[in-house]
Amino acid sequence: MTPITNIADLRALAQRRVPRMLFDYIDSGSYDEITLQANSRELQALRFRQRVLVDTTGRSLTSELVGDEVAMPLAIAPTGLTGLVRGDGEILAARAAEAAGIPYCLSTMSIATIEDIRAAISRPFWFQLYVLRDRGFSQAMIERAQAARCPVLVVTVDLPMRGQRHSDIKNGLTVPPRLTLRNLWDIATKPAWSLGVLRAKRRTFGNIEDYLKKGRVSLMGAGEWSTQHFDQTLNWRDMEWVRSAWPGKLVIKGILDVEDAKTAASVGADAIIVSNHGGRQLDGAPASITVLPQIAQAVGDRLEVLFDGGIRSGQDVMKALALGARGCLIGRAYLYGLAAMGEKGCAIALDLIRREIEITMMLTGVTDLRKVGPDVLHREAQAH
Ligand SMILES: Cc1cc2nc3c(=O)[nH]c(=O)nc-3n(C[C@H](O)[C@H](O)[C@H](O)COP(=O)(O)O)c2cc1C
Repeated sequence: MTPITNIADLRALAQRRVPRMLFDYIDSGSYDEITLQANSRELQALRFRQRVLVDTTGRSLTSELVGDEVAMPLAIAPTGLTGLVRGDGEILAARAAEAAGIPYCLSTMSIATIEDIRAAISRPFWFQLYVLRDRGFSQAMIERAQAARCPVLVVTVDLPMRGQRHSDIKNGLTVPPRLTLRNLWDIATKPAWSLGVLRAKRRTFGNIEDYLKKGRVSLMGAGEWSTQHFDQTLNWRDMEWVRSAWPGKLVIKGILDVEDAKTAASVGADAIIVSNHGGRQLDGAPASITVLPQIAQAVGDRLEVLFDGGIRSGQDVMKALALGARGCLIGRAYLYGLAAMGEKGCAIALDLIRREIEITMMLTGVTDLRKVGPDVLHREAQAH
């Protein structure tokens, strides 16, 4: 096999190894994918200042993200349906994150449950909450996360309604997968994937299984379900409720605006994630990296600013740190690895990024990642 040298190699392998409806689910963005593309393009447009003859041998990648000691300033972003991308996908990814010394964040819409992850790893993991209309259910989820000793609750606020991804509709993406002739053919030609999913512990949304049973929901389009059950009345007062219900660290995910960032600080969030949901929600929203500097400047002294959207390399991580992020989360970069080769692929993705960060540190003369600032970027030489 040709050596895997970057995340793009893992993406190409993933495309060959998982059914098309799942590859498209990972890969695509909402509507015309303007924001999805902007996330990568704007990161790529930034340039480093190359520095020479700096001894970086004692360099350190370690940091602290919302009170969590990390081997590098990176975390695995919450992603739904990951246990269908690869059988037991959440457990495999959580193990890879633990081995790499970074946090794993489990999505509400995962296949594995909070308790499955607790049993699989010993490192504390983060839990991402979608607030459902049934507030009692959200309260119960918060209590389950507490019982699993999650130190961090990430509340995602950019999805009162799901942005449309054309391919999910065209491919008939449902949970469990709807067995149309085309899907059956697709699945039949991916026997390793099928076997993995068949052998896995679960095949439906584990965390909300009881809730689905109660409403007698069985085969449903994920979009249709979330439209019905996510709380569209959610507003800042509800964040005060979450703050009072959750004693641990609170992170608000999906902030793209300075005013919203300030409000997040005033409701007592410990951190925000500057994020456009990987270009999967408001199409036409700015790239996350474009708004990062102004948000970091406005609230960086009141809470921690984390970042996601378009990170595909260690160079991208360094650029986000330079523009004010304390750390980054990755969605697709780890999912490509997981889809391609399971836990090993995920570990390869994390290792590639770690090595790229190290080399970038050496070539920009950085010894301590916690001290990276805008001076590692070349101001005059942007690509556009
Ligand atoms: C397949 C997929 C599923 C996702 N599911 C969730 C989710 O359940 N909850 C959430 O807060 N964000 C979700 N996201 C958004 C990610 O947490 C993250 O914001 C995004 O992937 C970052 O962009 P990147 O993929 O370019 O790294 C999902 C993203 C992808 C690609």
